[in-house]
Order: sequence, then structure tokens, then C-alpha cells
Amino acid sequence: MIDEVLAQREAAAVMQTYRRQPVAFVRGEGASLFDADGRRYVDCMAGISMNNVGHCHPAVVTAIQQQAARLINVSNLYYTEPMVALAEWIRDHSLGGRVYFCNSGAEATEAALKLARKHGGPGKTEVVALVDGFHGRTYGALSLTGQPGKQEAFRPLVPGVHHVERDDLEGLEAAVGPATCAIFLEVVQGEVGVHPVPVEMIRLARELADRHGALLVIDEIQTGLARTGPLFAYQDVGVTPDVMCLAKSLGGGVPIGAVVATPRFDAVLQPGDHGSTFAASPLAAAAALASCAVLGDAALQQSVRVKGAALLAGLEGLVEDGLATEARGRGLMCAIDLPRARAAEAVEALLAEGFLVNNTSPRTVRMLPPLVIDAEDLDALVGALRRVLPGL
Ligand SMILES: Cc1ncc(COP(=O)(O)O)c(C=O)c1O
Repeated sequence: MIDEVLAQREAAAVMQTYRRQPVAFVRGEGASLFDADGRRYVDCMAGISMNNVGHCHPAVVTAIQQQAARLINVSNLYYTEPMVALAEWIRDHSLGGRVYFCNSGAEATEAALKLARKHGGPGKTEVVALVDGFHGRTYGALSLTGQPGKQEAFRPLVPGVHHVERDDLEGLEAAVGPATCAIFLEVVQGEVGVHPVPVEMIRLARELADRHGALLVIDEIQTGLARTGPLFAYQDVGVTPDVMCLAKSLGGGVPIGAVVATPRFDAVLQPGDHGSTFAASPLAAAAALASCAVLGDAALQQSVRVKGAALLAGLEGLVEDGLATEARGRGLMCAIDLPRARAAEAVEALLAEGFLVNNTSPRTVRMLPPLVIDAEDLDALVGALRRVLPGL
């Protein structure tokens, strides 16, 4: 657990934008995290899907150590091999076109938005996104994020963004038109509690983007890199986007984000249009290459499907027994809704049992374990839920 002195120092020194759980970690290995007393916690959050390879994966650690000893960063004024190799890997495993690098998910959204706006030109400045979608918290990304509670204090936002409910086919058809430069969506909306966007909605978005000359941008920042089973969630839907955003587990825990597009958009962004001092440093790119080698493995992806199906079956058992009202999951991206608004208490009770999960709303508990987690740890998570939920 956490010592009170550290909590007080944090409160005095750090802007309070997070409600932290009362625990401080000093070491991690795979799906295990350890506090200063050596107590083990089963990580079922993976840093909000940032640690898909698990904590301190040996390949990532070695890559970071070796690269850090050689060269950490030189900015983007010069060529570095790891950055080029990472761009090639992303390009060849996804949309086939060039890659833009940044440092986070929100920055990836911003870059995709600028690419779409520049491609669209002056007559195509509007963007359509989904209610409950999440694309980050910088101004452009926040404007696309379809959650008024997160936007309210920061208005006016970037103009021209229209939000449509994730299952509103008619609304989508009405919202997209000749002035639309892009449609942004996630295949599964993670931040609101793992809600898959209906396949018909994603297919319609593809069709409307083609009809009106807009770009379909799929945000795979949370769903990507094998989280839902396939390397990218769009691959299970049968819809190929024009642009994809990546971040989170791309760097195996080290900050890095990327935007990749189909070759048609290779030349939209030109020197001076966009940039980042830090992006795709040799250090971050080396970590990302190691992380991608692990997550690109077909056997790992298959194991995510198998473990995810078992976890979802366990969660559905909770629904059958009246402990939860709904269970949702795609691969190892899962959530349950509780009968009452006790999700924060459930997170607290699970922490006491040694399991890390989070609540995305007063009634919803989300689970995003590292993809290398053992089936036994997932069984134990369901067992812990069975113990704590009846008392809430
Ligand atoms: C789908 C999605 N897009 C964008 C972001 C923003 O990423 P970051 O926190 O790295 O800016 C997140 C973060 O949770 C996300 O889940």
C-alpha cells in the first residue's frame, strides 16, 4: 500500500488531475506489480493498455539498455535507424503508407486531424466523431472526444465537430457531407467502459467517407497492438481506414505515438506542417521495435483471443449469478456493469484483494490486463470479483 507521507508530498507538489489509488509501485514483471513491502498485485489494467507486453519485458528492457548506452535522442533534424525501422514495421503491418511519429495518443489524434484538414482544404473543415468516443485531452483531441463532461470547462473548442451516437446510422448519414474532411472513431470505445461500435456503423462510415471524399480515421490507441486479438481491431471488422492512430503500448511503456495512412496520403504533410522535438527518439523507437516484435506474433494474438474468451465467460457467469448486469469484451479488453453505482468501491475492494482494475463510470468496472497474463491470474480475478461483489 502507500505511505501517508508520499501521498501528502504528492498532494503538495503535483496538480491534482488524477484520483490515484492508494498504492505505490516499485517493481513490475509481466502481469505482476510489487509495492515497497514486496506485496504482489495482479495488474489487470496494463497502464490503461500501455503495457500490453507486460512490465519490464526482457526484450524491451534489453533494447532500452542497449540503445540508452549508444544514443538517446538527437531530435528530428537528423536520420536515426531505429525510427526508420519502426516506421517500416508499422507501415508493413497496417496501411502500407508513410508514418508520422509523436509522443502520445492525444498527439496522434492532433496529427491525424491536421492531416485530414490539410488534405480537405478550405472547403472541407468539418469532422464527424462519435458520442462517448475518446481521442485525448489536448484541444483538437478534446474537441473530437464525445464526452461533454470533459469538454465543458474548456469551451470554446475547435469548431466544426459533429458527434453522432455510436449506433445511429441515420444520424451518421445526415452528419457526413461535402464539408466533412474526416470521420474519427474507435472500433471499441474503451474510456466509456468497453462498448464495441456496431460493425454496420463502421462500414457505413467507410462508405460515407468514400462518397464524400472524407478520410476514415480509426483510433487504435487503446484497441491496437493485439489488445482485442488481431494486431489492429479494424482487421476483425473488415473495414480498412485511411488513417490509423497508435500510441499507448507501442513503446512497451515508453512514450511514443504514431499516425499511419494509406499511400494516397504519403505527401499530405510537408516540411514545416507539423513536428515534435522528441518524437521517435532512438530510445523510444528501439523500445517500440522490441514491443512490436512481441505483439506482432500470431501465437500471442491467438492467446489473447483464447484468454479473452475465457475471461468473458467468467464475467458472464457473474451476470448469470446476478452480481453484474452486463459483461462486454473483445479479446483482453473487458468490462462489467454492476447492478448499483458501486464500481469505485469494487475497484477499492479488488485492490485490497491484490487486483488492479478501474472504473470508467459509477457502475462500470474495466479490465485491460497485460496480454502476457496467465490464464490462472485471470481465473483468480474472476474469483476475486465473486468474493467482493456480493458485499457491495
Ligand atoms: C482511444 C484513445 N484515444 C486517445 C487517447 C489519448 O492518449 P494519451 O493519453 O496518450 O494522450 C486514449 C487514452 O486513453 C485512448 O484510449
